[in-house]
Parts: sequence; C-alpha cells; structure tokens
Amino acid sequence: MTRSPVRVVCPGSFDPVTHGHLDVISRAARLYDEVVVAVGVNVSKSRLFTADERLEMLREACAGFTNVRVEGFTGLLTDFCRQQDAQAIVKGLRAGDFDYELQMAQMNARLAPEVETVFLPTTPELAYLASSLVKEVASLGGDVTGLLPEPVRLRLLDRLAGRRTTET
Ligand code: PNS
Repeated sequence: MTRSPVRVVCPGSFDPVTHGHLDVISRAARLYDEVVVAVGVNVSKSRLFTADERLEMLREACAGFTNVRVEGFTGLLTDFCRQQDAQAIVKGLRAGDFDYELQMAQMNARLAPEVETVFLPTTPELAYLASSLVKEVASLGGDVTGLLPEPVRLRLLDRLAGRRTTET
C-alpha cells in the first residue's frame, strides 16, 4: 500500500539560526518526507535581523537538505500549516520550555485539530542553546564559535559591531 508523503512545519523566529535549530530541522528531515521551515516574520516584534536576512541565513544553512524548504509566514501558525497542507508542527523541547510549549500546542490543537504538535527533546550537548543567549554572549564579547553556522556567526558579529557604532 502506498502512503502519501508526510509534510511537517518547523516554526521559529530564527533570529538568528543556531545549531540547536539545525539539529531539530535535520532530525525532522530524517523522520518525515518534507519539512517546511517556517520563519515568523511578524513585523511588530523587534529582531536583530530582518525577515529577509533570517530567511537568507536559514536557506543557506539548509541548502544541504533535499527535503527541506524555508518559507516566511505572518499570522497564525495553524493557518500557515493549513496553507502548506502540513500534518504536524515539529518543535525542539528544552528542559525549561515545557509549560509554554504545551500551552501553545494545546491552543494550536484547538485552532486546527488536524495538525498535531510533535516535540523532539533537544540533543543534550545543545540543550542550553538559544538565539537570545547567543546574542547576549556575543554582544558582551564572549566566544560563540561552534554554536551557530560560521557565516551566521560572522554576520552576527558584524551586526553587533554596527550596533555598537550607531549606539555610541
Ligand atoms: O523561535 P520562537 O520565538 O520560539 O518562535 C515562536 C513562533 C514563531 C513559533 C510562535 O510565536 C508562533 O507560532 N507565532 C505565530 C503566531 C501564532 O500562531 N500564535 C498563536 C500560538 S498558540
């Protein structure tokens, strides 16, 4: 019996993409037929990188995956999942994430009962990684080598240096 391909969505802000995100994306790409990485491009939130920059960095970082594509979305994630005909939302889960992630998963289930949420526990070596922490450490001069793709790290340092120049 043939089955139809399973398409899932990996959502996030990706400001910027880290090896933690790529770990979840690569594991989803092994588990499912098609992965759509959904970059939240909500204009009201303040981000270090623009939507176009985040999309560009992710597309470059995901270029090696044959079954992954990167798209921007606005509005509700569940609407995007329906537009994409995706069966599930796949998210990485760190120790401290559970309560909020469960709340979002249950709200999303109410909005779109046909779209499941699947949690992948983060790889222990990457469990402490978060874009916000990487940005904070880098902005204070800490070394973030190995925590994010090298071209993304260089763009981050460049952006932070530009900010320091404009802020002084
Ligand atoms: O990387 P983040 O910041 O954890 O990503 C959060 C994101 C973009 C996945 C989340 O904010 C989201 O789903 N936004 C879309 C708006 C929406 O659907 N809100 C209702 C969630 S229950």
